Amino acid sequence: MNMMSETAVEKALDQKMTEMKYKMIGKDVSVYYGEKRALFDVNLNVREHTVTALIGPSGCGKSTFLRCLNRMNDTIDSCRVTGKITLDEMDIYDPDIDVVELRARVGMVFQKPNPFPKSIYENIAYGPRIHGLARSKADLDQVVETSLQKAGLWNEVKDRLQESGTGLSGGQQQRLCIARAVAVSPEVILMDEPCSALDPIATAKVEELIHELRANFTIVIVTHSMQQAARVSQRTAMFHLGLLVEENDTDKMFTNPDDQRTQDYIMGRFG
Ligand SMILES: Nc1ncnc2c1ncn2[C@@H]1O[C@H](COP(=O)(O)OP(=O)(O)OP(=O)(O)O)[C@@H](O)[C@H]1O
Ligand SMILES: [Mg+2]
Repeated sequence: MNMMSETAVEKALDQKMTEMKYKMIGKDVSVYYGEKRALFDVNLNVREHTVTALIGPSGCGKSTFLRCLNRMNDTIDSCRVTGKITLDEMDIYDPDIDVVELRARVGMVFQKPNPFPKSIYENIAYGPRIHGLARSKADLDQVVETSLQKAGLWNEVKDRLQESGTGLSGGQQQRLCIARAVAVSPEVILMDEPCSALDPIATAKVEELIHELRANFTIVIVTHSMQQAARVSQRTAMFHLGLLVEENDTDKMFTNPDDQRTQDYIMGRFG
């Protein structure tokens, strides 16, 4: 698998990335769980058509920050978010925002594959149906096929669409969840340690997929694996004790980071 080869497409995307606007802007983002402060004035911008990796030791606030980006923290009672986050120019914490719509634009894939206990077909069709994205059965069939193709799963499941999603292997289930996220045509996809429950072969497939998805989506991925961050991302953000300590080109981050704490973490001195 030569997923990091500098193909023409890759070069074009890199070029696009350097010219590109920020898809999401996080300004002075702080998060509190009750009295406890988990993030301190984080300023982090997410570039379009870029994979941004969030790294740092356990408990540093990676998942907390990721959840801010589609207001998943709203579901935690004690949680309070301050600062400002925009998607394009829209303030996502504006009280008038429809959170369901926001989460269709900023989708999420979780650590543990969590397909619905329904058929493979239904797992994909559910979102487009409730968001009114398909006018007919034929439309819906098309969305299901395209989404499964984008997630690199179509050939493996096309003859068993009516079988349960939970009957797939772990790696297939995670690609099914990615297909489900893709099906509602999000602009941004958030992934919280999407490979941590997968074996190395399934991980490689998902990493390759993330790499391909960059052409159509903007991706933010939390990972504990430095190798994974280096393989899949173009930008990396390093968190420590609730602070964003450095954000940089991934290549630079892993060869010559600006911050001593990044250096220490990458060298395995803590975390
Ligand atoms: N639901 C919650 N209620 C209270 N505190 C929480 C909650 N979720 C996270 N925290 C706290 O916020 C801080 C940041 O947690 P977070 O889960 O964002 O870290 P993380 O970097 O994702 O860690 P890990 O790598 O272990 O997943 C931690 O101190 C954690 O204990
Ligand atoms: Mg986490």
